Amino acid sequence: MIFSIGVAVGFLSTVTLLLALLLLFAERRILNYGPCTLDINEGRKTLVVNGGSTLLSSLGENEIFIPSACGGRGTCAYCKVKVLEGGGVIGPVEESNLSSEDAKKGVRLSCQVKVRQDIKLVIPDELFLAKRFQGKLIRKRLLTYDIVELRIALIQPETIQFAAGQYIQLESQEYLGRDAVMRAYSISSVPSDDRHVEVIIRRMPEGICTTWVFDHLEEGRELNLSGPYGDFKLKESKAPAVFLAGGSGMAPIWSILRDMKEQGDDRESYYFFSGRNQDDLFFTEELFALEKELPNFRYIPCLTREDKGSSWQGERGRVPFILPKYIPDATKFEAYLCGSSNFIDSCAAALKQAGINENSIFYDKFE
Ligand SMILES: Cc1cc2nc3c(=O)[nH]c(=O)nc-3n(C[C@H](O)[C@H](O)[C@H](O)COP(=O)(O)OP(=O)(O)OC[C@H]3O[C@@H](n4cnc5c(N)ncnc54)[C@H](O)[C@@H]3O)c2cc1C
Ligand code: FES
Repeated sequence: MIFSIGVAVGFLSTVTLLLALLLLFAERRILNYGPCTLDINEGRKTLVVNGGSTLLSSLGENEIFIPSACGGRGTCAYCKVKVLEGGGVIGPVEESNLSSEDAKKGVRLSCQVKVRQDIKLVIPDELFLAKRFQGKLIRKRLLTYDIVELRIALIQPETIQFAAGQYIQLESQEYLGRDAVMRAYSISSVPSDDRHVEVIIRRMPEGICTTWVFDHLEEGRELNLSGPYGDFKLKESKAPAVFLAGGSGMAPIWSILRDMKEQGDDRESYYFFSGRNQDDLFFTEELFALEKELPNFRYIPCLTREDKGSSWQGERGRVPFILPKYIPDATKFEAYLCGSSNFIDSCAAALKQAGINENSIFYDKFE
């Protein structure tokens, strides 16, 4: 009996797999959609592409780079574009990643939309500025046991224009049978250093790109990236600012703070950086030195699991509990948060408790 059920399940799985492969083959070879026109931003750019690929890759092949932090897996929702005509029906992957409000406005995940006919779409104007770069890794240095900094010299084009806080997408290379992928990394260098891009990367256990970075990427290697992307930037309001980050969430804040120094922007500002113990801290000397260069800036590292008997004189505990001690009233503040969803959600709750306006909280969620 069990044997027959096993055979039936095996048979059904094989048939389903064969049907899926057949559909894929039909889609690629038999269904020839021919040339399709992509009309972008009401005629600002018109492209003629071969139908059959995703909108994301059709645009990418034509040097229009849409952010795609999850590499087209349909999970990050960074590749949203507005499709006015020709996008076809919304599939289940899109349904679970788009709000009903987005769907009503015609917002789609470009990695899930297949080009099967002419499409009219709208993308944010700044995406016309994103480019693909070829670079060379000129420095790889460990900042902590699980965080590495990469310094990349740009080869072609030779310079990049970006705002502090934005991110690039790094392309990994094949290793040990694992495919090349694309992942988002915030730029940690300053905009004035326009011939280089620095990123700070935390190792994720079994992560495809981070394993490549830590175990396979060597200084001197050429690599590709695209960008800049994102709107996580310091607002021009000059309102007092509170920065909150943990781990590699340091990257955009490190860029923003040093850019503030270069611009002489000495607004009242606090930076709470979270780690488990002193082994998680980096750029500590530099950040305390910044307090002298920006007299209205305070750096507050907060450790959650530092050994009770250690010599640590700084704050102990989670940032949401320490923050009110320094900022009892956050009504006039803008907040810039970077790190994991849990970290961001708990800090945002503490900020709201301290009176911040929800519209003044800006964040980049890394996971
Ligand atoms: C806007 C933005 C900016 C970012 N900036 C930075 C930055 O500055 N620095 C930084 O370090 N990161 C940053 N990230 C995160 C970064 O893009 C990557 O997500 C991260 O480095 C992990 O990539 P990976 O390929 O190594 O891991 P992935 O292979 O994508 O895996 C991620 C995690 O999921 C697990 N996983 C993978 N596949 C499976 C599976 N089949 N089943 C169960 N678990 C699985 C892995 O074990 C791993 O822990 C940013 C993300 C965004 C969206
Ligand atoms: S690329 Fe991530 S959802 Fe489309």
